[in-house]
Amino acid sequence: MKIDVAFSSAQLDELQLRERNVVVIDVLRSSTTIAVALQNGAREIIPVPSIESAVKISGSLFGEVTLRGGERNGKIIDGFNLGNSPTEYSYSTVGGKSIIYCTTNGSVAMHKSRYARNLAIGAFVNVSAVVEFMNEVKGDFLIICAGRVNATANFSLEDAVCAGMMIRRLQEETSIELELTDSARASLLLYGRLGRSILKMLKMSEHGQYLTEIGFGDDLKVCAAVDTVPALPVLSGTVIKLKKEEQRPVEREQPADDKPSV
Ligand code: MLT
Repeated sequence: MKIDVAFSSAQLDELQLRERNVVVIDVLRSSTTIAVALQNGAREIIPVPSIESAVKISGSLFGEVTLRGGERNGKIIDGFNLGNSPTEYSYSTVGGKSIIYCTTNGSVAMHKSRYARNLAIGAFVNVSAVVEFMNEVKGDFLIICAGRVNATANFSLEDAVCAGMMIRRLQEETSIELELTDSARASLLLYGRLGRSILKMLKMSEHGQYLTEIGFGDDLKVCAAVDTVPALPVLSGTVIKLKKEEQRPVEREQPADDKPSV
């Protein structure tokens, strides 16, 4: 099982990801928020790459069961129902709802990955569920760190450390020999160095400091809480849903004309 890590989705082309097994990580906060939303009963998450597409799609879905969630610069987008704090996505708010989801980095990476053979959304809160899924698929994986568009080289420390945790768990839990690329090995080393206190690492990260400055410091505690949300968000057709126990990873070849519409 070859594990590769992309530290940002910026250089990736969506057709490169066709038929790949992919995990998208955006610890602060998209992956965490999506896991919480689905755990709290949201019907599905529809990741879109732009605010314009969010407005266009919500025009064609029924308002009473559709919400718009996401952020720009960490804050709620004008005209949206929800921002991107996982604490907003409570059962009473999102239960049964479809959520059109637009964030700076996370939803872009997820949208780019919509042609993947298998796509899971991972963070610290659901790391065991993701590793179990990777072990079930038993194929090569590309872990995509959403990264940060306004960071040098788009690098996001927290996403790389989370990728490293997943790789360490795979090493400990799988009988399959792992082949690690340099970026996967670097992520593992970062986890080994910074994984002792996830909250401390989040507080040290650029985006963690920014979120604290704009009043979302409490979100770091939620995002640092390992395995507190045993939900596994996976690509289901063109949207992201909770993996059901009976759902098996995709193994069949995807017909060439079976392109998702989103
Ligand atoms: C992102 O997509 O980059 C994050 O979700 C941003 C945030 O939530 O602050």
